[in-house]
Amino acid sequence: MIENSPMLKVIGRTGVGYDTVDVAAATARGIPVIITPGANNRSVAEHAVAMMFALSKNLMEAHGELCAGNWEIRGAGKAFELEGKTVGILGLGAIGRETARICAGIGMKLAGYDPFMTREAVELLGAYYYEDYEALLSDSDIVTIHVPLTENTRGLIGEKQLAMMKKEALLINCSRGGIIDEAALAAALKNGVIAGAVRMSL
Ligand SMILES: NC(=O)c1ccc[n+]([C@@H]2O[C@H](COP(=O)([O-])OP(=O)(O)OC[C@H]3O[C@@H](n4cnc5c(N)ncnc54)[C@H](O)[C@@H]3O)[C@@H](O)[C@H]2O)c1
Repeated sequence: MIENSPMLKVIGRTGVGYDTVDVAAATARGIPVIITPGANNRSVAEHAVAMMFALSKNLMEAHGELCAGNWEIRGAGKAFELEGKTVGILGLGAIGRETARICAGIGMKLAGYDPFMTREAVELLGAYYYEDYEALLSDSDIVTIHVPLTENTRGLIGEKQLAMMKKEALLINCSRGGIIDEAALAAALKNGVIAGAVRMSL
């Protein structure tokens, strides 16, 4: 697209992250690449929490089954309350912190992992501090991911990490594809290794 756009002056992306743009190619042509930090923090955080509600109330399956005439789905016993559950937040930047605030407001316990934050900073958010993200995965009822896609976070959650999670656990990814090994996730869902997952990301 850059090559085919000789008049291009600037590349702007909503939200944060340059990973969808060939920044080197843009830079070589003197084209600045800009983002809009803060523009959608609340929207993404609300979406992550919306997905927690959707999964914990089994909304998607229940809706589909009811539309297909299966009234018995109301007795499936798959719904549970979020209050009192532990949400593990991977990445406590702008979106992770906003998600933490909403989750605290509905009575969830917070667990946080961010290698670039001190214990004090994490505890100040009201979250239990984890030095090791795999320990957070085993302790959490719901895990929500808010880290950038980098060489360090690519494949952060694979077969080994999924196996560490609770069988009833839910996994939400509103950051980027590539952070979770999706083939491993599909297998984990099929085999009942974890209970549910949602991805809303590029
Ligand atoms: N789905 C969407 O519509 C949407 C919109 C905006 C952003 N995003 C994604 O969400 C991500 C987070 O956005 P943000 O605004 O909160 O960014 P941010 O830069 O404010 O926060 C990212 C946090 O992740 C932490 N981090 C980095 N590597 C980590 C690791 N290995 N483990 C745990 N934490 C780590 C950083 O220290 C930082 O605190 C973005 O990078 C972007 O990919 C998605």
